[in-house]
Amino acid sequence: MPTAQRPVSPMDTTSATGTAGAAGTAGTAAADAVTLEAAFDAAVAADERIEPRDWMPDAYRATLVRQIAQHAHSEIIGMQPEANWITRAPSLRRKAILMAKVQDEAGHGLYLYSAAETLGASRDDLLDKLHSGRQKYSSIFNYPTLTWADVGAIGWLVDGAAITNQVPLCRCSYGPYARAMVRVCKEESFHQRQGYELLLALSRGTEAQHAMAQDAVDRWWWPSLMMFGPPDAESSHSEQSMTWKIKRHSNDELRQRFVDICVPQAESLGLTLPDPDLKWNEERGQHDFGAIDWSEFWSVLKGNGPCNEQRMTQRRLAHEEGAWVRAAAAAHAAKHAARAAEHSERKEATA
Ligand code: 3HC
Repeated sequence: MPTAQRPVSPMDTTSATGTAGAAGTAGTAAADAVTLEAAFDAAVAADERIEPRDWMPDAYRATLVRQIAQHAHSEIIGMQPEANWITRAPSLRRKAILMAKVQDEAGHGLYLYSAAETLGASRDDLLDKLHSGRQKYSSIFNYPTLTWADVGAIGWLVDGAAITNQVPLCRCSYGPYARAMVRVCKEESFHQRQGYELLLALSRGTEAQHAMAQDAVDRWWWPSLMMFGPPDAESSHSEQSMTWKIKRHSNDELRQRFVDICVPQAESLGLTLPDPDLKWNEERGQHDFGAIDWSEFWSVLKGNGPCNEQRMTQRRLAHEEGAWVRAAAAAHAAKHAARAAEHSERKEATA
């Protein structure tokens, strides 16, 4: 059913049958709800995009706000580990690349908060939930960046994992999220390549530089696999998210895809992935890999990772210190709006 004919959001109280749903009796309202749900399900089944004005189940809206907010929070918290090295980059070129990347992450956060706002969420409320621990950000950003090689490992592994997870999101059923992902993925591929190139330079450098690169890969490999979420059997949202085509693949499927991508890349880098059980399985046509320490994953999610406290302290401080910028931008916008309103009144008066 093309978008034009689809029922719009309940604010318009127009049901799929085209009659005003608000004034209807309970029976009519129930019939409307069934029709609305059927139209929504048919649209998702037909791989149509759900747009902000379309009617959608409250639970669909809620899980999108949850996931998009967490995604946005991950982008802005993700700026911290790498920003830690901007002033210590070994060359102007590396410094410029890293600054561009960190700036991109901020932009990704803004796209995603804007996507969440199309669902009726408020940015202030989402940030308040982040700052008070009521919403999450990706576990991966609770690990420290101990050496310059970590900037390369984050680019190659963390942004590589993000791409593996985000490319399918370009086909997410919710329009604004899917469209935000198209640009994010283009920029992520630059992030991943610069990380790979950085590690290659170190790996082919002095013995000490090669050792630094290997140490970083050793520390970031397993937390990068955890980025894809818990095993499918413990994933509380996957089944519903896949029914609604928010998620196109399960956590384990994307994790496996990422492992299969990284193995040949590690060989080209001349670096070893820290998993003795990693080996090609001819029968499966994929790599078998070792057990992930899920107790570490859940412990980090509970706030016990190496950097959880530091990341949140820094985030809250940045938010407080940025209050004047938000106030100034709001005052400028209000002045701009008042001037525009005055101008249009004058125009009407003289028309
Ligand atoms: N870190 C923190 N929490 C995680 C997590 C992780 N790596 N993986 C799962 N969780 C949480 C889920 O949020 C959920 O908790 P909640 O109910 O409180 O939200 C719980 O663990 C169960 O997990 P599920 O698999 O059921 O949850 P999802 O279906 O939401 O799947 C996901 C998890 C695969 C991360 C999915 O949310 C997703 O694809 N999100 C969008 C992509 C994203 O957020 N990526 C994060 C990194 S962004 C990044 O790296 C940017 C780069 O530029 C640096």
